[in-house]
Amino acid sequence: MTTIDPEELDFATLAIRTGHRRTDEQEHSEPIFATSSYVFRSAAEAAARFAGDAPGNIYSRFTNPTVRAFEERLAVLEGGECCVATASGMAAILTTCLGLLQSGDHILASRSIFGSTTILFDKYLSRFGIKTRYVPLADPEAWRVAIRPETRMLFLESPSNPLTEMADIRQLAELAHARGCLLVVDNCFCTPALQRPLALGADLVIHSATKYLDGQGRCVGGAVVGDRQRVGQEVFGVLRTTGPTMSPFNAWVFLKGLETLDLRMQAHSRNAALLAQWLEVQPAVERIFYPGLPSHPQHGLVGTQQRDGGGILAFEVRGGQPAAWRLIDATRLMSITANLGDTKTTITHPATTTHGRLSAEERRRAGIGDGLIRIAVGLEAVADIEADLARGFAAL
Ligand SMILES: Cc1ncc(COP(=O)(O)O)c(C=O)c1O
Repeated sequence: MTTIDPEELDFATLAIRTGHRRTDEQEHSEPIFATSSYVFRSAAEAAARFAGDAPGNIYSRFTNPTVRAFEERLAVLEGGECCVATASGMAAILTTCLGLLQSGDHILASRSIFGSTTILFDKYLSRFGIKTRYVPLADPEAWRVAIRPETRMLFLESPSNPLTEMADIRQLAELAHARGCLLVVDNCFCTPALQRPLALGADLVIHSATKYLDGQGRCVGGAVVGDRQRVGQEVFGVLRTTGPTMSPFNAWVFLKGLETLDLRMQAHSRNAALLAQWLEVQPAVERIFYPGLPSHPQHGLVGTQQRDGGGILAFEVRGGQPAAWRLIDATRLMSITANLGDTKTTITHPATTTHGRLSAEERRRAGIGDGLIRIAVGLEAVADIEADLARGFAAL
């Protein structure tokens, strides 16, 4: 852990140097504390720790030094007071809702959020009296009119998956606060290297660490970042009691991921921008969705709210589903998988995978066409990714 004031250090430095408290062994790299419990020097010390009167480790369901190092590093990178690491991104959303909402509360969410988040809200939270309504992400007026007196939380992802629509986070934060609601932003697609929602006025940030924070598709994990009361007390309280805890090994992998996050997000964005420009002029491409292109409806938020375009793009190929499948099946380098945030480029057909559980009408309303293909652009040479897509186009 550096002794320099974090305010004096750049993001890239903080991502490498924050969080590690060196032990007496003088290790250079963060150790993995593979222990479920901790020994107290006396019965009195044990009692003081359990009572919360003395700081220190108790049991790894809720105190582990490797996990804490990851939490401290991510909190600093997001500009939050506190972070709670969880077993997955979905566990981060669940613990946040359990910690901050109660029966009778209402969630207002973007229509374009991750499918499992929608199922969590509609199928599970609704059983406990928490109802959710959905609005179009990029339409601030729709958010304004849909807020009810019992609305407690506005929830969104920006950019959205797979169409890369963006919300004006500053504007929605002002709206949320004027109406007594919290704004929660799932920052999975951008990471703090490209976008810091708390600095834009959001109250909490959610992460699926599984994606770009890891960066190489190895581990599942999640995190919630925010203030000391809501995250440090309420969300932490749920984690401590119910146990959707991040393992020390996964925390160690994510710590390694964070060290290269800044470089990787710049490289993902550069590769995606080059690929988007190349795709835009392919005759078989009907429409392309990428925030970094001037043709994107919210392109103005790139460079202001969001530092760069990010690594995800989508395009609509002429010929609907048969053409999309033919194109995907003719590629030989990209991985046909729905995961993202990996050094390896992935290619997906959203209408029959990530959004396959929606009805045709729901997909139409969400703008997910039958010919839509999503690419999570990795860090291979762009020329090789283009050559692979060219194989796909040649098969049409
Ligand atoms: C935007 C977003 N949020 C949350 C999640 C859930 O994360 P996890 O798979 O780590 O539970 C995902 C997973 O794909 C996601 O894309």
